[in-house]
Amino acid sequence: MQKGFTLWFTGLSGAGKTTLAHMVEAELRRRGCKVEVLDGDVIRTNLSKGLGFSKEDRDTNIRRIGFVCHLLSRNGVVAIAAAISPYRAVRDEVRAQIGDFVEVYVRCPLEVAAARDVKGLYAKAMAGEIPAFTGVSDPYEEPLNPEILVDTSVQTKEESFKVIMLRLEELGYVPKAEAEVYSEDEEEEVKRRLEELGYL
Ligand code: ADX
Repeated sequence: MQKGFTLWFTGLSGAGKTTLAHMVEAELRRRGCKVEVLDGDVIRTNLSKGLGFSKEDRDTNIRRIGFVCHLLSRNGVVAIAAAISPYRAVRDEVRAQIGDFVEVYVRCPLEVAAARDVKGLYAKAMAGEIPAFTGVSDPYEEPLNPEILVDTSVQTKEESFKVIMLRLEELGYVPKAEAEVYSEDEEEEVKRRLEELGYL
């Protein structure tokens, strides 16, 4: 069985966490892994519905996401979390709980994220219309020693994706792309053919 683990994306809003999470998700599925993405924006519409953006609420949100990642990864699933997760201490708490934990810091300077402003939130935050907005009027604590570091202000998303995949292979968490992965049925069929031909 595929070894489960948690791939934890952290970084500012608009840094590219969700985009990269879904790129990795698609590639890992293609390679035969079971994968689930837990995205902060989505989780806040169900599991964390009603939570706000105080430190306490953010920490609760991260603990919930971390708990589900823990349940999934111990059952052979690759759990991919994409949440700002601005506080180092709670990220490290989740890391300790899960064990097989790979932190990806999606670095992107505030100016770049604010210039992209995909959701139009930075303009509002800078105008003082959204209080406690991460990077503008609320802290973001960078990871000190992430397993993976990408910088979406200087890399294309394909380049960042590649960095992540190569590092996951290096860490031994995912099968290499060039390895042929047969399903059990395909394996049986290959065996049957080889027997028929007298090779087995
Ligand atoms: S976290 O801090 O608890 O990890 P999470 O990733 O779930 O945050 O949610 C962040 C998303 O909520 C942002 O991408 C943005 O769309 C939205 N959002 C709304 N208000 C804020 C705020 N004050 N700070 C950061 N993000 C906010």
